[in-house]
Amino acid sequence: MHKIKAITRRVIYFTRDPSPELLASFEERDWEVEVAGSVRDVRQAVDDGSLAGGLVDLSSVFDGHDMAALEACVAMPNVGWVAMTAAPEFDDAAVRRLVRDYCFDYVTLPATNARIVDTVGHACGMISLGEPALVDTSAAEGEMIGNCDAMLALFQSIRKVATNDAPVFVSGESGTGKELTAAAIHARSARRDAPFVAINCGAIPPHLLQSELFGYERGAFTGASQRRIGRVEAAHGGTVFLDEIGDLPFESQASLLRFLQGSTIDRLGSNGSIKVDVRIISATHVDMEAAIEDGRFRADLYHRLCVLRIDEPPLRARGKDIELLALYTLDRYRKDASRRLYGFSPGAIAAMHQYDWPGNVRELINRVRRAIVMSEGRTISADDLELSAYVAVVPVTLARARETAERQAIELALLRHRGRLGDAARELSISRTTLYRLLSSHGMRYEQDSTAER
Ligand SMILES: Nc1ncnc2c1ncn2[C@@H]1O[C@H](COP(=O)(O)OP(=O)(O)OP(=O)(O)O)[C@@H](O)[C@H]1O
Ligand SMILES: [Mg+2]
Repeated sequence: MHKIKAITRRVIYFTRDPSPELLASFEERDWEVEVAGSVRDVRQAVDDGSLAGGLVDLSSVFDGHDMAALEACVAMPNVGWVAMTAAPEFDDAAVRRLVRDYCFDYVTLPATNARIVDTVGHACGMISLGEPALVDTSAAEGEMIGNCDAMLALFQSIRKVATNDAPVFVSGESGTGKELTAAAIHARSARRDAPFVAINCGAIPPHLLQSELFGYERGAFTGASQRRIGRVEAAHGGTVFLDEIGDLPFESQASLLRFLQGSTIDRLGSNGSIKVDVRIISATHVDMEAAIEDGRFRADLYHRLCVLRIDEPPLRARGKDIELLALYTLDRYRKDASRRLYGFSPGAIAAMHQYDWPGNVRELINRVRRAIVMSEGRTISADDLELSAYVAVVPVTLARARETAERQAIELALLRHRGRLGDAARELSISRTTLYRLLSSHGMRYEQDSTAER
């Protein structure tokens, strides 16, 4: 998942008072050291973009007030910083925060040169592992991230329907990626170089539908001072995306149906029809079967729209993809953070799996973006995501779950057979020897029973 970049053996030693012995120790261990005496020197050394370890000698460079310059320095990318301090600097809360948020490690003096070189070597190694949350985007279909079975099936459906020209109906809860799916189908279809025109069906009042969708001729109505091409005609050769189709007012449904039946449009005020060549994709979060039953949606229109159907899985059914999407969002917006963020805390991950995500991917993106800005630590916590109520369930490994179940089964069998190991073993379908071994591996006490083996 993480891309490992070539490890360099280069150190930027930020100090106003370089120690010749320390320099010698670095060189002995084949490190190339660049001594920087000022923030400008550091910037110059960092500017060539190659990775390096960094050693900031706080006692010599921190003069008690120019915190901003120091911060700018250690926040530079591609350098794994280690702070070296003689401790008094740590009395300063701002210094402590700087070290906590930006440095990989620190060394308090006195310390051996070997320890300092080792620590810097480790920091340099860490930075060469890449940003901690680098997401492997091979899991993406274009802009769509996903790796779980449901998403792989979705990607396959997208590829299949893209080669066809029949209308596609995309169904899914709000924020699941219906619009992304529609755009992905268009982008993979032969129409990809022609326009993709999205129309929000719920937002057009019935009396404007005709002119919005199909346009009008000059003089068609008061104020129509020139001809205007409608949205459908504007998509000629491409795809029309009828978003929120379930919210299309009933009064508007007949004219849409007429268009779908004939593939022709009549501009308002015109007396001829124009043939347009568009592919129709529609989407909604509305339960269409229920809408038809309630008489809110015409069944004939629905059947025209839903020749091919794609169902977007809700986020809560995407398993590990929840983490993948969270990491992807962190990667994408991490520059909004005031400090380097190293990913999500285990509590945050547990909470993300517990939570129901009624707003699906959109909600996840919003929560992570807010957390990036609000986070005070090195990792995003459940609290930052405003999901602390969902941490309560401690994540259980499968091994731990098996162990607990095994122990419980043994305890119950022993209870039932009043401690007779032979009978308990028989019930559990294991040998006595295995039962002894399990009892001792679980640290359970047992009395050697006399009645057991006959
Ligand atoms: N698989 C995904 N990978 C990356 N980003 C995604 C994915 N799915 C959705 N998103 C993002 O989530 C947000 C919501 O997606 P989109 O607008 O396509 O959802 P929708 O189903 O149309 O929502 P609504 O019902 O509210 O209109 C967008 O910012 C989109 O980029
Ligand atoms: Mg949408």
